[in-house]
Amino acid sequence: MSMTRRNFLLSTGWAAVAGAAVPATGLSADPATTTFKPDDWRSVRTQFNLSPDYVHLAGFYIVSHPRPVREAIERYRKAIDENPFLTVDRGMFGKPEDRMATRVCEAAAAYSGGKAGEYAITPNTTTGLALIYNGLMIRHGQEILTSEHDHYSHHESIRLATQKNGASWRRIALFEQSSTATEDEIVGRLIEAIQPNTRVIGVTWVHSSSGIRLPVRKIADAIREINRKRDEPDRILLVVDGVHGYGAVDEALPDLGCDFFAAGTHKWILAPRGTGIVWARDYVWAQIRPTVPSFISPDPYEAWLKGDAPRGPTQADWVSPGGFFAYEYQWAMADAFHFQKQIGRRRAAERIAELNGLCKEGLVKIPHVTLHTPPDGRLSAGIICFEIAGLTAQAVVDKLLRRDIIASASPYAKSYARVSFSIMNSHEEVEVALRAIHDLV
Ligand SMILES: Cc1ncc(COP(=O)(O)O)c(C=O)c1O
Repeated sequence: MSMTRRNFLLSTGWAAVAGAAVPATGLSADPATTTFKPDDWRSVRTQFNLSPDYVHLAGFYIVSHPRPVREAIERYRKAIDENPFLTVDRGMFGKPEDRMATRVCEAAAAYSGGKAGEYAITPNTTTGLALIYNGLMIRHGQEILTSEHDHYSHHESIRLATQKNGASWRRIALFEQSSTATEDEIVGRLIEAIQPNTRVIGVTWVHSSSGIRLPVRKIADAIREINRKRDEPDRILLVVDGVHGYGAVDEALPDLGCDFFAAGTHKWILAPRGTGIVWARDYVWAQIRPTVPSFISPDPYEAWLKGDAPRGPTQADWVSPGGFFAYEYQWAMADAFHFQKQIGRRRAAERIAELNGLCKEGLVKIPHVTLHTPPDGRLSAGIICFEIAGLTAQAVVDKLLRRDIIASASPYAKSYARVSFSIMNSHEEVEVALRAIHDLV
């Protein structure tokens, strides 16, 4: 018997599929779910299926889905496999209250501030940055100013965009040495480098090259002063690659003061692999032209039906790239934001700062170890970069792996060994890592 749409909706129970808190029919509620204590770090650790054979110190690289996220993915996968058309048609193009993208954006706003309508959903940081730089209306002769320290994805997004729009780009060093940098030095160097034709500044909140965290708010405030003397078309826009601060630092996005914020949510936010966001204020989205047709907003599609283009300024959901996605992953983003909210943004950030702070304190005491991340918690977050005299970064990583410790080597021209403590790590693991690094020396 073919199932009518009505039958489907009655039998599946959309609320059970889409509701974050309701386990789907047929999925047993695991004891670890029912006994999850968000204020107990050991209980938080039980939410991850991380192999107990290793000390995992590269959590920032790509997420291990925590239990609520795994369960949500499974719920959506089951619903899509049972009814691909009805589930996706309803979740994507159904009544406004059924649209899953709206739920995701609402959950993002509840966790990180701003309004749901200010979030675009992306597959990762790289795509978010590319959508921003490719979409910004920069005039020939204007420039994008960035730093020497940013990720390949950031620099390539700028290079590819400027190749097309005829703008130029320039990279400067924000500090002499990452470990001893000061907020004044960073802000001072950046502001000093601004030229009359500088239209965009692109920075990284927490650097995966050195672990340094930039004072984004102070940078934004200094740029605002310069913008006071500029006309709207020349106003400097601040773009932030925020991926290693988002979920690691206790900061609401609107408080950062930047114009555009791009981040993958598959690192510190613990959302499904292949997910991310771009956030900007309503009026800032107007500065962007969308690059990929959106399936989330009905506006461009309805305009297209009439042989037209959507009217009015660009909105966040026009910029969310369309085409069909792995919806069980995209929709489960909301469950990750709920999980983070249960734990608490501040508590998670304090835990990350505490564990990484202890590790840095230990590292500076080990002879022949050079710490490249500032010891000051205000200038760092959850990534620690270091060198051991006489060993390459990869050699350090290989040797640690032989002791069942998973570290990583930074993917930059000058590579450092990196360890990172996240909410799934413990004080004991800090000690184990320090002992192993000490023994390598
Ligand atoms: C600073 C920084 N930006 C961007 C990226 C790329 O992130 P994604 O995989 O979300 O595109 C990375 C990768 O880890 C990174 O370290």
